[in-house]
Amino acid sequence: MSEAVSPDLLPLTAQDGPDGLSVGGVSLVELGRRFGTPLFVYDEEHLRRRCREAVAAFGPGLVAYASKAFLCTAMARLAHEEGLLLDVASGGELRVALNAGVPGDRIVLHGNNKDDGELLAAVRAGVRHVVVDNFDEMDRIERLATVHGLAPVPVVLRVAPGVAAGGHQAIRTGGTDSKFGFGLATGAAAAAVRRARSSGAMALEGVHAHVGSQVLDAGRLADGAATIARFAVESGVAGLTVGGGLGVAYEGGERVPSFAEWATGVRTAVRDAGWTGPFVVEPGRSVTARAGLTLYRVGTIKHIEGVRTYVGVDGGMSDNIRPALYGGRYEAFLPRAPFADRPLRARLVGKHCESGDILVDDAALPADLAVSDLLATPVTGAYGYAMASNYNKLPRPAVVFVRDGGARLVVRRETEDDLLRLDVPGPGERPGAAGVAQVTARRLTTA
Ligand code: LLP
Repeated sequence: MSEAVSPDLLPLTAQDGPDGLSVGGVSLVELGRRFGTPLFVYDEEHLRRRCREAVAAFGPGLVAYASKAFLCTAMARLAHEEGLLLDVASGGELRVALNAGVPGDRIVLHGNNKDDGELLAAVRAGVRHVVVDNFDEMDRIERLATVHGLAPVPVVLRVAPGVAAGGHQAIRTGGTDSKFGFGLATGAAAAAVRRARSSGAMALEGVHAHVGSQVLDAGRLADGAATIARFAVESGVAGLTVGGGLGVAYEGGERVPSFAEWATGVRTAVRDAGWTGPFVVEPGRSVTARAGLTLYRVGTIKHIEGVRTYVGVDGGMSDNIRPALYGGRYEAFLPRAPFADRPLRARLVGKHCESGDILVDDAALPADLAVSDLLATPVTGAYGYAMASNYNKLPRPAVVFVRDGGARLVVRRETEDDLLRLDVPGPGERPGAAGVAQVTARRLTTA
């Protein structure tokens, strides 16, 4: 493969011009200079369009954005403005959604091990419902209801339907051997329905299943939906959620189902199963992945004769753990010459202290790639920033939204002071001891 990067991997407003590739009317080269690298860039128009497409395919009020894919206050606000509900999977995600002004009744709380604090915060925020995962959580809700005198908590029951799908073992969730949900095959799901109905602490609103993530076969998503829909009909509940999971293309030439195809498949499947009511979906990756890309600066190129070429950039597994964790495959291109041929084969690596710190194992790149070049990896908008870490004490990147020729910083870059923020000074020590070199700040101004 030496052809140029496929436009299908780029954000929708990406355009080639004299200054190289622009997104949202802003040159990526300019963004790299202005905000420094590594940098997550999101095409706001793309994000909004994906939200609208999802609502058009499934119906108003029937799409919950799975915020784990990418969440910050600006993203929560955007999804809410576009009419999506928010699926949060922890007290922290709930906090961000509330901080964005998303009303409680537009939020659903997930999680296989919610603690008292998370449950109480959700109930106090008036969440639409809590997706209850297990009997211990039911115990907890009943205890909290007694202690705090809560009105019956609206609940949806998470079911393990025995249908698992997805791009990697780690992200297949719906099987019987799963930490998530009440098993259908074991009878636990039916028992959970009975218990929720007989409990004064819970108001049973429906059932839920999520089979897995990065699913490229819409048929598998329909199979999962059919199974949980049959159970919903049998148990006579009023609500049905069929989860998220629609996959995206990470490399050129991969074919992925559209929201409309996903919707048609699921609609047919649940109807065939006898479900006549509406159903909710929870897309995460398919909303944000392609809208985002990561900009890096090339710092070193090493040719090992007869072996391979390594291209080292200023980020790595701390801003994209997916290759290391799931064998995730990506492409790379140069924003200054986005559609140039890419005859050079190289391993794109980060700056972390291990050999597994690979961003693209066998990247195709232009032959004139040079140190100091700005380089981009597309389709990093889901589970990139969301899973970023401070490994090797790298400050996490900034995030910008671009639209109509303007760029706005929505998450600032971490500084080295941020890296010391949680360290508790010993007796007599000052926080953030003297002599700390502000390397980060320097990099920002010289990029
Ligand atoms: N609903 C539930 C209950 C989920 O657990 C998930 C994802 C979603 C919806 C959204 O799935 P999506 O539409 O994004 O596929 N870190 C992994 C993905 C983990 C997905 C976890 N649950 C990755 O980078 O591939």
